[in-house]
Amino acid sequence: MDSKLERKYPNILISGTPGVGKTSFTTLLQSRITDEKNYQMKNINLGNIVTENKLYKEWNDEFNVPVFDDDMICDYLEPIIEEGGCLLDFHSAGFIPEDWIDLIVLLRCNNTELYDRLKARGYNDKKITENIECEIMEVTADDVKENFNSEKIMELKSEVIDDMEKNLDIVMDKINELHFFEN
Ligand SMILES: Nc1ncnc2c1ncn2[C@@H]1O[C@H](COP(=O)(O)OP(=O)(O)O)[C@@H](O)[C@H]1O
Ligand SMILES: [Mg+2]
Repeated sequence: MDSKLERKYPNILISGTPGVGKTSFTTLLQSRITDEKNYQMKNINLGNIVTENKLYKEWNDEFNVPVFDDDMICDYLEPIIEEGGCLLDFHSAGFIPEDWIDLIVLLRCNNTELYDRLKARGYNDKKITENIECEIMEVTADDVKENFNSEKIMELKSEVIDDMEKNLDIVMDKINELHFFEN
């Protein structure tokens, strides 16, 4: 993998259907890297950034969400990505240039657990169904697998609390194996 030679500080994409645990995991991973590598990764929640920076041209009234614009996101991200050291937290991955990303954490969750999480978030039934269907149909997973080399992808279950710690260990092992954060 060439990119690891170019970047001391990896760019890591954390992806998966809404509710799988991306934002929770990203925050934990950021702390873990700070503790173990003495380096603070940038925590980039793209959903928030799209809204805050108006990186959309349309609004989806049905689900009350912006329809994000791939090109606007890429233009916004390019200078940040070039510096390396980014944790990108986003549910969509197909539009992100392959060589921007060194590792992908693809989180997965079963339907019943995902249902409970989305319900707790206050989503209406239609939005819950749409998201659960995305997980069943592997929409994000396919997006990731079509766009990125399989060697970069870690597909991990995020269903119970214990999974979080296990997943952190797996990702840290991979980071060490690839010698990121070293000279
Ligand atoms: N591995 C896990 N086990 C149990 N609950 C989790 C796990 N990961 C996340 N959660 C919970 O699920 C909910 C959604 O997590 P969040 O990180 O916001 O997901 P996302 O960012 O992918 O939408 C939160 O309430 C979070 O605490
Ligand atoms: Mg989130």
